[in-house]
Amino acid sequence: MKKINHKLHVNKIKKNGYTIIKNFLSINELSLIKNKIKKIENQKSTVKTGNNIWHLHNYDEIFTNVICKKDIQKILIPLLNDPFYKNINLNLPNYILGESMIIDEKGFMNLHLDSYIPSSSSKLYMANVLFLLDDRSRDNACTILIKNTHRKDSYPDRNKKNYTYLEGKKGDLIIYDSRIWHGRCEAKTNTSNRTLVYIVQSWFIKQRFDYIHLLPKKIFKKLSNLEKQFLGFCSIPPKDNKKIISIRQGYEVLKN
Ligand SMILES: [Fe+2]
Repeated sequence: MKKINHKLHVNKIKKNGYTIIKNFLSINELSLIKNKIKKIENQKSTVKTGNNIWHLHNYDEIFTNVICKKDIQKILIPLLNDPFYKNINLNLPNYILGESMIIDEKGFMNLHLDSYIPSSSSKLYMANVLFLLDDRSRDNACTILIKNTHRKDSYPDRNKKNYTYLEGKKGDLIIYDSRIWHGRCEAKTNTSNRTLVYIVQSWFIKQRFDYIHLLPKKIFKKLSNLEKQFLGFCSIPPKDNKKIISIRQGYEVLKN
């Protein structure tokens, strides 16, 4: 992998709503991830819908390690960090995971936005991070989007057909603003198109599942403070409403 120009990708996401980083994962990383997935998909307890697998980070720490890579931090920190979060150094992430999954689908998916709320704000608060585990093209159901819709401030017009096709090779990384109108084209071939997908969001957006309680202890123990924070452990809503505490907490709460 070539040295990544983080600033360039930050600006592309701000301006165009998306960016593609070629050859982000090495062949070794890719095969390590694929082997883990092979093991996970055969476990009885794995949460699946069709071929999609949910909550990968609950099965193996590698799925938190990979999304917390320094190169991804350097792109997401300027976009998703809360600049007034005092208890963690602002050079480190204070954004969190919304959801993680493997998508393995061949059917058309209509235009939608994953942020739920359309907004024209210059402040991005949610991003989709896609690791391509197989080659994806317009022939095997790649992601589609409508350019320049990430700051549209309205829900998608599903009559629009001027799609941009987010084609890429296995190992490529795609990041897009979750507000952008996107979907999936229909496959014409039956080739595999698996993608490891993360929704990453500012700390104040509610996580889509109760990951604080769903994360197995044995995985928690293997994570760094940075990774635990990323899973939401520094911004848990307080149970005790009599204690006045900040919900923007630092790594010290992780010692408990
Ligand atoms: Fe989506």
